[in-house]
Amino acid sequence: MSKSVDMAVTVGADRPVRLKNPVIAASGTFGYGLEYADQLDLGAIGGFVTKGVSLKPRDGNPPPRICETAAGMLNAIGLANVGLEVFLGEKLPKLRKLDTAVVVNLYGEAVEEFAELARRLSEAGGVAALELNVSCPNVKAGGMAFGCAPGPVGEITAAVRAVTDLPVWVKLTPNVTDPVGIARAAAAAGADALCLINTLLGMAIDARRKRPRLANLYGGLSGPAIKPVALRMVHQVSRAVAIPVVGLGGIVTGEDAAEFLLAGASAVQVGTANFLDPAACLRVAAELEDFCADQGVTAVADLVGGLAA
Ligand SMILES: Cc1cc2nc3c(=O)[nH]c(=O)nc-3n(C[C@H](O)[C@H](O)[C@H](O)COP(=O)(O)O)c2cc1C
Repeated sequence: MSKSVDMAVTVGADRPVRLKNPVIAASGTFGYGLEYADQLDLGAIGGFVTKGVSLKPRDGNPPPRICETAAGMLNAIGLANVGLEVFLGEKLPKLRKLDTAVVVNLYGEAVEEFAELARRLSEAGGVAALELNVSCPNVKAGGMAFGCAPGPVGEITAAVRAVTDLPVWVKLTPNVTDPVGIARAAAAAGADALCLINTLLGMAIDARRKRPRLANLYGGLSGPAIKPVALRMVHQVSRAVAIPVVGLGGIVTGEDAAEFLLAGASAVQVGTANFLDPAACLRVAAELEDFCADQGVTAVADLVGGLAA
């Protein structure tokens, strides 16, 4: 098929992030990007989000920490990562040379940690946007996830906004009853975009051994199983806030990506699918382009929010 589709999109107005195409690799499923350099041309993907970076290195949870489920997987990695110093010293200098949008995912256990990470990463340069993972426990509030209430999400967003001019994307958890209230709090506190969804809290049991399949008991469900939940939340939130939404959850094909754009997402992320196909982001973008050509859509951005009433 001869393709003449404009695949470029821009996420955000005041602090725009321009992408060659709307398909970004999701945090935790694409390492620090560099691990995938042999598998695909990193310069050809829309962008990627790094594994969540914390101030100190973390080993994460004991194994087993992933398991397969029907149409998806559970993970309880526990945010294992190299920590800020190694990220700045060893990863970022290589990432800066890539011709793609590098979004850094941040993880903190207190508001001040998010602000410190954001400040140091902004000073370092070479980062296209910061993505705040607010699905982590707030140690000062007894371990409840920050992302479960509007107040703490607004607080983290405002604290990061105060120390950086980089685009701030806030990644929301689906494990809440009112995503719209939380989304509004992030937008009001200065977020440039919202990413949703993170994983859904779940559990798997080996009945014969009478044991949980994850050492951590509970883990985050991802993959095609969560796509309907993700589409619903993207639709709800994108209609309620003025800032753009980046949609993710179970995207495997170009048509899945089109569904998220129609629901109101300005760009998408591909997570679990990278484990089955390391070049999934390129394939999804190519399939999305074919979909647009087939549908007579000349610019992929025209799909955004195009759901018929
Ligand atoms: C193994 C694994 C590790 C993840 N690590 C992170 C992380 O560090 N930070 C984060 O915000 N999301 C993390 N996620 C969530 C994904 O970025 C994504 O939101 C989720 O998996 C839903 O998308 P998918 O169904 O396409 O995988 C992780 C997901 C998986 C499967």
